[in-house]
Amino acid sequence: MLLLVTGGAGFIGSHFIRLILKKHPTWKVINLDKLTYSGNPENLRDVEDGEGGKRYFFVQGDICDAAIVEALFSGVHPLFHAHRSLQHEGPAECPIRTVIHFAAESHVDRSIHDTSAFYRTNVEGTRVLVETARRHWVVGSPASIESPYRLVHVSTDEVYGSLEPHHPPFTEESPIKPNSPYAASKAAADLTVLAYIHTYGLPATLTRCGNNYGPYQHPEKFIPLFITNALEDKPMPMYGDGLQVRDWIYVIDHCNALLKILERGKPGEVYNIGANQERANREVAEFIAQKIGKSRNLIRGVADRSGHDRRYALDVTKIQSALGWKADQSFVQGMESTIQWYKTNHLWWKQLKNEKFWEYFKEIYGSI
Ligand code: NAD
Ligand code: TYD
Repeated sequence: MLLLVTGGAGFIGSHFIRLILKKHPTWKVINLDKLTYSGNPENLRDVEDGEGGKRYFFVQGDICDAAIVEALFSGVHPLFHAHRSLQHEGPAECPIRTVIHFAAESHVDRSIHDTSAFYRTNVEGTRVLVETARRHWVVGSPASIESPYRLVHVSTDEVYGSLEPHHPPFTEESPIKPNSPYAASKAAADLTVLAYIHTYGLPATLTRCGNNYGPYQHPEKFIPLFITNALEDKPMPMYGDGLQVRDWIYVIDHCNALLKILERGKPGEVYNIGANQERANREVAEFIAQKIGKSRNLIRGVADRSGHDRRYALDVTKIQSALGWKADQSFVQGMESTIQWYKTNHLWWKQLKNEKFWEYFKEIYGSI
């Protein structure tokens, strides 16, 4: 099995690659990643240096670049010539039969600041990928469970929009009502994949997960920003009243769900992935300050994010009953190991919190 992973140098993709190489000792992985500010080869250094490194191949490239994606699908990319172990995978027939698509611009605040990269990568990049898959996989409607091909499109609960406190969680049938430019670009990608399933029978599945946390998450995101700022005695900038609620899931739980969907998910289906761990931002911030032994005074109220979604929550009945998956980690366990990881791996995040990062920080939060 040769798996193409897009965006595998990012937070979730790197955990997924580590998991796949461990759980499937014969599988090989090609990671196509542009290495934007959020892609980091250090996230997979242990994999490259370890036993799994022999089955892991990295290509730096943009998913919007149809020529690179085509070269990979047709087995003529120089990678196939450079590595003997990949030679029998192509080019006689399409060597790429399985794709898991993580590559995206992923940070809501950046999408509010400048939407362009979001629409380019998240919408056009996804279109290039599914279009290339469709041409190579010569699919025919309807998408069949028997198909030897599979594409998993990794999406987000944010495509459903925002919930009021008394609303039931989103199901897979909830309307798509994105609010931020990030969420709108992911929703457009979802609809594109669904159109390819419907029109061409592309054997794809879609996943919509809640907010992830864990090791290797870029320090611009809420939990790692608050942990690393607390460790450095810097302010933790909390938006608005801090009563916005997210449904938090430990990243490894998300990756295990994706693996199940890759192996047994039904083409054409959408699966919500969540851990039923709703927490208000204020509660999360106070938990972090307390665990790190810092004063709550480091938590500073800042002007609210424009168009800030109030609450996300997911109904995960479908994946539980269809695939027997459920999350393992409690929020407290997951957060304790995450905080410990950031304490131990300060070199990893200190490199990312460079001059450019603090310029960005000032632009987003002003002087706090
Ligand atoms: P991330 O920002 O950490 O990683 C994104 C990766 O994609 C990076 O390695 C980046 O270099 C790469 N990339 C960006 N543009 C590219 C392009 N044009 N071509 C090739 N590579 C490109 O993001 P993440 O948090 O790991 O999220 C991964 C996926 O999961 C995204 O699709 C995101 O929408 C989805 N998701 C994330 C969360 C979350 O809480 N982080 C929750 C649900 C769904
Ligand atoms: P984030 O990690 O950006 O994920 P998302 O916006 O996709 O849910 O933010 C999680 C929550 O934390 C969200 O309600 C916004 C809030 N937040 C802050 O209060 N301060 C911050 O500095 C950041 C980055 C987020």
